[in-house]
Amino acid sequence: MMKEEKMSFVKVASIHDVEPGAMKAVTADSTEILLVNLAGTYFAIGNICRHMGCRISMGTLSGDVVTCPCHGSQYNVKTGTIVRGPTIEPEPPYEVRLEDDQILVRI
Ligand code: FES
Repeated sequence: MMKEEKMSFVKVASIHDVEPGAMKAVTADSTEILLVNLAGTYFAIGNICRHMGCRISMGTLSGDVVTCPCHGSQYNVKTGTIVRGPTIEPEPPYEVRLEDDQILVRI
């Protein structure tokens, strides 16, 4: 399949797949994404920790902060910004859109 040059929205999950306060690992094309439901609003950031590549979906979510299970890096799930190291790189944030009960992420 040809890789589109323009960014586009890709369906990644149903709203029923992610409860409020929960997170889920999804894939859009070949991009691994962490999808989070914060009180009914969905956010998406990269799921591969920028420190040493662990999947942050295996970590813990507390409010809007996710903690990587490997060495404790923390990222804000709304923005991808670093809350705490050892990572020195933020996660990319992805735009989220809802269509009926489907969650789409822009990549
Ligand atoms: S791989 Fe995530 S903190 Fe080290």
